Amino acid sequence: MPGTELFGAEERKEVNDVLETGILFRYGHDAQRNGHWKAREFEEEVKKITGAKYAHAMSSGSTAVATALAAAGIGTGDEVIVPPFTFIATIEAVLFVGALPVFAEVDETLCLSAEGIKKAITPKTKGVCLVHMCGGMAEMDSIMQVVKEHNLILVEDAGQAFASSYKGVSTGLFGKAGSYSFDFFKIATAGEGGVLVTNDEETYNKADYYSDHGHSHIGAKRGMEQHPILGFNYRIGELNAAVGLAQTRRVPHIREVNRKYKKMLTELLSQTPGIGFATIADPDGDSATFLNILMETPEAAQRTVDEMNNAGVAGFDYWYKNMYHFINQWDHIKEMRTASKLAVEVLGTPQDYANLQLPVTQNVIGRLISFGIRCTWTEEQVRDLAAKISDCVKKALATAHA
Ligand SMILES: Cc1ncc(COP(=O)(O)O)c(C=O)c1O
Repeated sequence: MPGTELFGAEERKEVNDVLETGILFRYGHDAQRNGHWKAREFEEEVKKITGAKYAHAMSSGSTAVATALAAAGIGTGDEVIVPPFTFIATIEAVLFVGALPVFAEVDETLCLSAEGIKKAITPKTKGVCLVHMCGGMAEMDSIMQVVKEHNLILVEDAGQAFASSYKGVSTGLFGKAGSYSFDFFKIATAGEGGVLVTNDEETYNKADYYSDHGHSHIGAKRGMEQHPILGFNYRIGELNAAVGLAQTRRVPHIREVNRKYKKMLTELLSQTPGIGFATIADPDGDSATFLNILMETPEAAQRTVDEMNNAGVAGFDYWYKNMYHFINQWDHIKEMRTASKLAVEVLGTPQDYANLQLPVTQNVIGRLISFGIRCTWTEEQVRDLAAKISDCVKKALATAHA
């Protein structure tokens, strides 16, 4: 949780600015707010880091990805290709805009592959909701080729990938719209918050309206504003935005330290036979929030996880079994348990979600163990962790060969 590791005076100062005026709302009240526009400043800071032409802060990464889909024109009945390895919010967002998720294979980048996308395309495919997982990025050259060839709408859920890029372009800016999460576990946190980015003015305007009941945000009297489209309340409040602003200013520093420790950990672990790593499509653009180890087999990964649990090694995720980020754990989708009927239940699922065959993904995620990089580590702690991991891998592999 690098953002929260550095929580301090800067965050308190930004929050206090808001508390002093009492203007917790992001719009209007110009005379009373004493020049404090935290949501706007937060958006400017995100633009600085990503190079986005437009950024729009919202209540969460979940509402930001839902808004990105809607603003990009994805809605009822549209098939959208999604990964089976992501935080569930991606799939919920597709379902709740009325669209139909189609699961496709990921590769060793941990993201959808061009090959996987291609195989999942049907005549009803409208778009792809690509997720840049674990601080890294998808292989964008080949993906963009498929997207263009098939005239698909690309939306990027870069919920876990703020401050990462591919060949100089920030994740989130390859398609119509992208989103970042600033929840409590990200490289920068707003407590709860999300930001939508786009380089397209029309998409930005739609997102701006959609996330605030359709308000145009033009004119001096909110109650009399025009409503170009229907929308809902996905607004961020000024208190959360104030925290997000202070945290986002820290990101270049956090990313630099993350990269240093990730490099160190990678070099140390490379010396242990049996340890491989996930593909980083552009190592220069890595936000380095995770080190993603790929063992040779799912069995080797499971035994390593057992050894690490026995040895009290902390700070890792085995997504395949122990986390809510993988389709194997999504029984509610497989059984389509919903509070009220969704479009997918009326229109029919494009795939049998309970019996999906995704062998490449099962193998990759089965072999994956991810370590969160901490920007407050010392070099000694990094060496110590590498030694412990290495020890556990050696024991795990020795048991396998016994
Ligand atoms: C890929 C991805 N998308 C969306 C989200 C949802 O973000 P939030 O928790 O801010 O709603 C997350 C959160 O972990 C995520 O990892």
